[in-house]
Amino acid sequence: MTDAPHTFAICVNRRLGADKPSCAARGSESIADAMEAGIRERGIQVGMERLVCFGMCMDGPNARLIPGGAFHKGIKKEDVQALLDELERICGCGGDEMKGANEVIPAPGS
Ligand code: FES
Repeated sequence: MTDAPHTFAICVNRRLGADKPSCAARGSESIADAMEAGIRERGIQVGMERLVCFGMCMDGPNARLIPGGAFHKGIKKEDVQALLDELERICGCGGDEMKGANEVIPAPGS
């Protein structure tokens, strides 16, 4: 097992109650969708995990590259390209042969 960063983890927790802030209530699910699409499109050599709470709910949406990456707090949809650039720089890309590797290929006639 290597200590190299291998997973982009983003909190998608939604805490119920108007007085309880949470990452999902601040848009982390759409950020996660955009990150996932970008990782696939670029062929970045990193997994992605949607987690339930880092325990810093007041600062969300929160994410980090694990293991060992710094926390990104208060991320916004417009931060996605910069985050993808960072993942690409740290984790690398698989090249053209990786692009679309996780794509779902529609069944013929669908
Ligand atoms: S809800 Fe995201 S850190 Fe707690």
